[in-house]
Amino acid sequence: MTIVVTGGAGFIGSNFVYYLLEHHPEDRVVCLDKLTYAGNLSTLAPVMAHPQFRFVKADICDRASVYRLFEEEHPDIVVNFAAESHVDRSIENPEVFLQTNIIGTSVLMDACRKYGIGRYHQVSTDEVYGDLPLDRPDLFFTEETPIHTSSPYSSSKASADLLVMAYHRTYGLPVTISRCSNNYGPYHFPEKLIPLMIINALADKPLPVYGEGLNVRDWLYVEDHCKAIDRIIRDGRVGEVYNVGGHNEKQNIEIVRLICRSLGKPESLITHVTDRKGHDMRYAIDPTKIHSELGWLPETKFEDGIQKTIQWYLDNRDWWETIISGEYQNYYEKMYHNR
Ligand code: NAD
Ligand code: TYD
Repeated sequence: MTIVVTGGAGFIGSNFVYYLLEHHPEDRVVCLDKLTYAGNLSTLAPVMAHPQFRFVKADICDRASVYRLFEEEHPDIVVNFAAESHVDRSIENPEVFLQTNIIGTSVLMDACRKYGIGRYHQVSTDEVYGDLPLDRPDLFFTEETPIHTSSPYSSSKASADLLVMAYHRTYGLPVTISRCSNNYGPYHFPEKLIPLMIINALADKPLPVYGEGLNVRDWLYVEDHCKAIDRIIRDGRVGEVYNVGGHNEKQNIEIVRLICRSLGKPESLITHVTDRKGHDMRYAIDPTKIHSELGWLPETKFEDGIQKTIQWYLDNRDWWETIISGEYQNYYEKMYHNR
């Protein structure tokens, strides 16, 4: 089979490329990525010469390039990770989120209709469900929870999900959608909570916690997410949504304290800064459907996954030092200076 992985030079997409090449050596993997600020070819360097791998630099919104790739590769499956993914950036500038996350999704699905496809899989997020109150720990997102978004990012992802279901109903496109909770692990871009805190702590820089830090996220080790998607594209039911998450809820402040302890850094580095606009309080996934239909369960415990992740950032300084030495400095200054 030939599997096109869009956004494969980013955090989860690259982990998925590695997962496929390791677990499905019979499959050909073609990564299509625009290499935005979040995409990094050094992330894929170890597989660039792999005989079952091809990298193509292209924008998913560029119809001619996408169609050319389909003509060349005749993919059996498309897994769409390509997206603008950072909520804070979406609050500053929503437009590119609408372009990539919505228009890009429709261009990919048009190509699937034109050239034929076995499966189009949309990598979505639990953020399409909005948030849950902190005082109702009994509530979880199920696949039936209404879409109710908060940020331009989550709204763009929800819009894409609606389009995916519309292409299924209207054109009979064989689609699936996964809605996953927050991932962590290797190659996580340093603007996101966990890598940002590890990297700042290593440099003894302030650890900027938004508001009180009481917001809750349901953290999943990235490899478990990759396994879930792999299960869905092979055995998931067409036209279905699958929630992916691991009953691993943590407050932001707990995570930051844990990182301080692991690195032997003082909690006095923690600095409470102005809260994010529209900040979602709690995300929590009910993974019953993917567990009962596909037998998926998270395998990496948070205590192990976070230590592996911290160790990865210690062992791979070149990867993130190159990233934070560039345009990232301007981003950091804009978002955190005098916050
Ligand atoms: P990321 O920002 O690390 O990577 C995104 C990748 O997409 C980059 O390689 C970038 O170059 C590429 N890209 C961006 N715009 C593109 C375009 N127009 N054409 C082609 N490539 C483009 O993102 P991530 O954290 O790996 O997230 C991947 C997907 O998973 C996204 O769709 C995101 O919404 C979803 N998701 C992420 C999380 C999470 O915790 N990170 C959780 C659930 C779902
Ligand atoms: P993030 O990693 O951006 O993921 P998301 O917003 O998609 O859940 O943020 C995770 C949580 O951490 C979120 O509640 C915002 C918070 N946060 C901080 O407190 N400080 C930071 O510098 C960042 C980037 C995030």
